[in-house]
Amino acid sequence: MKSKSQYICSACGAKAPQLLGRCPVCGEWGTYEEEVIIPSSTKATGIHSNTKPQRLEEIEAQAETRIDVHNGELNRVLGGGLVPGSLVLLGGEPGIGKSTLALQVLMQLGDQKTLYASGEESAKQIKLRAERIAGQPTNLFLMAETSLERILEQVRELQPEIVVIDSIQTISTEGIDATIGSLTQVKECAVRILQFAKEQNIPFILIGHITKEGSLAGPKILEHIVDTVLQFEGDQHYMYRILRAQKNRFGSTSEIGIYEMQQGGLREVTNPSELLLSTAREGLSGIAIAGAVEGVRPFLIEVQALVSSAAYGTPQRSSTGFDPRRLNMLLAVLEKRVGFKLLLKDVFLNIAGGLKVNDPAIDLAVMAAVLSSNMDIALDAQTAITGEVGLAGEIRPVARIEQRIREAEKLGFQRMIIPAGQKINAKDYKIQLVEVSKVADAFRILIQK
Ligand code: TYD
Ligand code: MG
Repeated sequence: MKSKSQYICSACGAKAPQLLGRCPVCGEWGTYEEEVIIPSSTKATGIHSNTKPQRLEEIEAQAETRIDVHNGELNRVLGGGLVPGSLVLLGGEPGIGKSTLALQVLMQLGDQKTLYASGEESAKQIKLRAERIAGQPTNLFLMAETSLERILEQVRELQPEIVVIDSIQTISTEGIDATIGSLTQVKECAVRILQFAKEQNIPFILIGHITKEGSLAGPKILEHIVDTVLQFEGDQHYMYRILRAQKNRFGSTSEIGIYEMQQGGLREVTNPSELLLSTAREGLSGIAIAGAVEGVRPFLIEVQALVSSAAYGTPQRSSTGFDPRRLNMLLAVLEKRVGFKLLLKDVFLNIAGGLKVNDPAIDLAVMAAVLSSNMDIALDAQTAITGEVGLAGEIRPVARIEQRIREAEKLGFQRMIIPAGQKINAKDYKIQLVEVSKVADAFRILIQK
């Protein structure tokens, strides 16, 4: 059978019968790639092709088994360990530490049999990398191979507990007339691995590179195929890395894992606050400490702001790690409800450590940092802040307030500003709690010592 082609936008997954310069769906330029339509005989026909519908009561509910990967952060992000037969995509920019993380996880598994197949590096290079990582691998098998068929053949024979393929963009499957790394190859390899993984009940971790624009090659397509998409991110200038689930069929996507890149591999950071708070913040203006929660884990983060008179006409507003639109909203609230004239000021906001925070409970700390910089008055370094801010300048209650307070207490803060009306018992805590219901009240407390 002669194979046909269609064209797919590598950014959004839209399809077209011919090559387009600009995607009519997402508006990106030059993202269309040819995809060979594979004749149906080789196409995935579904994993359980002869299943019949069953009545709900007839289905035996089995307690889901999980493979403990002996890595607390990864276990948590996966939702309590690796599900047998699942397909996990581990994405991230080159050099961020994907290979290190994957190799390290396999090495930590001790005498459980595992396979690391690499199309990127030779077995010798991997061995050198492994030597830098502390640990005694006893049953880890390495394989430098780019043919998917040969990898799967070995997996069938070896029956490892976990397989890592580094990377999905460097392997190819037979019988497909498309270059390595192309959309067609990447997609077809992933589909075949998925089938194989379910059939053999062996989990696969696929490493994927991210393009300059921050998307995985063939992003949407791969995301639909795999069970879990993990994103490994961080900044070249910081030693720590954040692992985030973008999609997870077996758990929540709000958990994050934190690692620190060290000489001997990635160290798990179990107490992130220590890493995220700088020690020399006493007496500096423009810094506020926020009690944040990511997933179910509380931590304290440092919000930094710099407010200065705009040098040229239009003032600049820039924000790193915090939604810029939300910053603009908070600045408007500051103008309108608190009476600060920020219209002609440049405002730069930064969440220390390159962390991205979505928790609205850091609103009040963001405002406090901006105000502190604007007035050039340092806030009390022993006070942590938590509270969401509404358009009327009211401070709204936040989720998981007890955990935030406990975290501040644990790190030795003496005082915490919290939204009024939260259901807590102040007597349960040693830290002094100050309830506020309006932004203006919070500032009054923060600025007077
Ligand atoms: P790597 O895992 O190769 O990244 P990726 O697979 O995502 O491209 O790791 C890249 C960086 O990590 C590299 O610059 C070296 C550094 N590194 C350490 O600092 N310590 C270590 O123990 C290892 C193995 C790597
Ligand atoms: Mg690598």
